[in-house]
Amino acid sequence: MHFVYYICNMIQEGNPFKLRAYTIPNLFCDREDEVKLLSSYAKNGVDITLFSLRRMGKTGLIQHFFNQLKAKNKQKTIYVDIYDTQNITAFTNRLATAILQEFPEEQSIGKRFFKLLKSFSPTISFDQFTGVPEVSLTFHSDQQQQHTLKSLLFFLEKQNEQVIIAIDEFQQIANYPEKNVEAILRTIVQQLNNVNFIFSGSHKHLLIEMFNSTKRPFFSSTTPMYLDKINEEAYQNFIVRLFGEQKKKIEEDAVSFILKWTKRHTYYTQALCNKVYQISDKKIDLETVYLACDRILDEQEVVFYQYRKLLTAGQWNLLIAIAKDDVVFQPTGAAFVGKYNLGNPTSVRRSLKSLVDKEMVIHEIDKNGNNYYEVYNCFLSRWLARKL
Ligand SMILES: Nc1ncnc2c1ncn2[C@@H]1O[C@H](COP(=O)(O)OP(=O)(O)OP(=O)(O)O)[C@@H](O)[C@H]1O
Ligand SMILES: [Mg+2]
Repeated sequence: MHFVYYICNMIQEGNPFKLRAYTIPNLFCDREDEVKLLSSYAKNGVDITLFSLRRMGKTGLIQHFFNQLKAKNKQKTIYVDIYDTQNITAFTNRLATAILQEFPEEQSIGKRFFKLLKSFSPTISFDQFTGVPEVSLTFHSDQQQQHTLKSLLFFLEKQNEQVIIAIDEFQQIANYPEKNVEAILRTIVQQLNNVNFIFSGSHKHLLIEMFNSTKRPFFSSTTPMYLDKINEEAYQNFIVRLFGEQKKKIEEDAVSFILKWTKRHTYYTQALCNKVYQISDKKIDLETVYLACDRILDEQEVVFYQYRKLLTAGQWNLLIAIAKDDVVFQPTGAAFVGKYNLGNPTSVRRSLKSLVDKEMVIHEIDKNGNNYYEVYNCFLSRWLARKL
C-alpha cells in the first residue's frame, strides 16, 4: 500500500498538465473541500447530484475521490459512464461491466458476482487491447430487464461494505426510448440502504429538471452539489509547483495572466499550461504565455471558422459582441445592442436563445441573482474578441 502510494505521488517525467482523464494525485489540483464534502455525504448515506459547466472537472473529482476511498479501503466504489448508452439495456450492461471490472473473479466478492452474472446467461467479451472484460446481456421482456437491474444493485446492497456508485453523464437516461427509466431506477434506489449514488452531468438544466421538478420521480431525492472553479491561490501554487518540478521557473505575472485568460476554467487552464510547457525552456515569462495563447488560437482557427458556417449572421455577430464584452448582463438592452450595432432587440433575443440552446453561450445566474451570458468555449471567446 505504501509503495503504491509512493509511486502515485512520484514526480513524473514529461508534460505534467494532462488534458485527458484523471491520472495521479500529484497532477490533480486542490478540490480538497469538495472531497471532504463528498466524504461527509458518503458517510451519512446522502445521494448527490454533481453538476457544473462542461469540462470543469466533475469526472476528475469523482475519480480523485474514489482513489482516496480505495486507499482507505473502507467503501467500495463503482464508476459508470453512460454517455454513449442509448437505452436501458445498454445501461444495465454498462453497470454489470463496471461491477465485474471492480470486483475481479479472483476476489471472493468477485466470485459471488460472477455466479450471479452467470445466472443471466451473459456474453462476456474481452477488449482486444486492454483485456478488460465487457458484459452483454439479452432480455426477452421488460420485466426480465428490470429484474436483472434490481438484482445487480441488490447484490451490492448485500455486501458488508458500503458501496458508492457514480453514474456519470446521468442526463443521458432522458434520451432513452423507454419512458419510465427514471421511475424504475428511483424505485430501486429507494430500497437501498448500503448503496449510495453520485449522479453527475453537465446538462445543468436537464439535471435540475430531473431532480427538482415535482413531476419527476427523482424529485428532491438527492443533494445538489455545484462544482465551481478551482480556488485562485490553489491553482497558482499548483501551476508554479508543476513547472518547478520539471525544472522550469514561471514568473508570477505569467501565472496570473494564464488564470485570467482562461477564466480559471479547468480544462482551458490545463490546455494553456500544457502549451506553455511545450514551447518553453527553463524560464517562463509573460511573453512565453502570450506566444502559447497565439499558438492555441492558431491551431483552433480552422474549427472556429466551421462554427461560423453553422450560425446565422445575426447569431455570429451576437457571439462576437458577447466575446468582446466577455461577460454580458443585458444582451438585449439598448446599450449593448447599440454598442455593437446588433439591430432589433427581438431578433437579438431569438439569436441569444439559439446560441444558448446550441451551448455556444452560457446562461448563468450570479450570487446576486443577476442573469449573465458568456461564450462557452473560452478559446473561441478569446479568438472572437481578438480577431474580428
Ligand atoms: N483538479 C484538477 N486538477 C488538474 N486538472 C484537472 C482537475 N480537474 C479536472 N482536470 C482536467 O480538466 C479537464 C476536464 O476535466 P473533467 O473531464 O474531469 O471535466 P468534466 O466536468 O467531467 O467534463 P465533461 O463535462 O466534459 O464531462 C481534464 O483534462 C482533466 O484532466
Ligand atoms: Mg465528465
